[in-house]
Amino acid sequence: MVSGPAVPVIAIDGPSASGKGTVAAAVAAHLDFHYLDSGALYRLVAKAALDRGVLLNDEPKIAKIAVNLAVRFSGTSIYLDGEDVTDAIRTESISAGSSIVAAQPAVRAALLARQRAFRSLPGLVADGRDMESIVFPDAVLKVFLTASAETRAERRYKQLIGKGISDNIPRLLQELRDRDERDCNRASAPLIQLPDARLLDTTNLTVAEAIAQVLRWVEPVIPRPSMGA
Ligand code: CDP
Repeated sequence: MVSGPAVPVIAIDGPSASGKGTVAAAVAAHLDFHYLDSGALYRLVAKAALDRGVLLNDEPKIAKIAVNLAVRFSGTSIYLDGEDVTDAIRTESISAGSSIVAAQPAVRAALLARQRAFRSLPGLVADGRDMESIVFPDAVLKVFLTASAETRAERRYKQLIGKGISDNIPRLLQELRDRDERDCNRASAPLIQLPDARLLDTTNLTVAEAIAQVLRWVEPVIPRPSMGA
């Protein structure tokens, strides 16, 4: 299997609930590329730790959990120790927990090779916080996808309601702000917009418009087989 630098990576980083997961998955489907939802790995670590009663600030124990994480991605479903946890890792307590474990360097190190293993032909679309700075610094396209905090809180609210999880917008807004603060100000792999990343502010864009913009940026950097040749 071809992997490594020969395989093109499109990286999409950005803050919580900016819509990067939706856009990244759609771009991957459009190009027939693999897709890595790196945030899911941090969510899985938080869930495994909480299930086992491990304190989220116990870095050595959390890193061990990250190394041994028995996870399987199958289509849009995610399995932890054989159990379907696709929706269970989207609760707000797991969101908060994931950003606590994600600040720990040993946990990030434990997940690095696992993330890079997703890089295989014909290409990969990866979303997260450090896809561009640490995991795939040689990505052929780097997008920093964001939206106003209020818009993001509304989007997260609709997403949770759609999953049958009730919540309220003021609480979600506070949670997003706390998580932004932790993700942007941590010492290890903070969320930053790199100078070579293109900014995509989706506050006033529909999902379809955001996907179309990324695909316009993709066109010159991913050689496509010529049609009808
Ligand atoms: O979907 P949402 O943007 O709310 O979160 P996510 O992408 O699933 O990521 C959950 C948490 O994992 C984030 O708040 C980050 O703390 C952490 N994370 C990270 O540190 N690095 C990544 N590459 C992806 C996520």
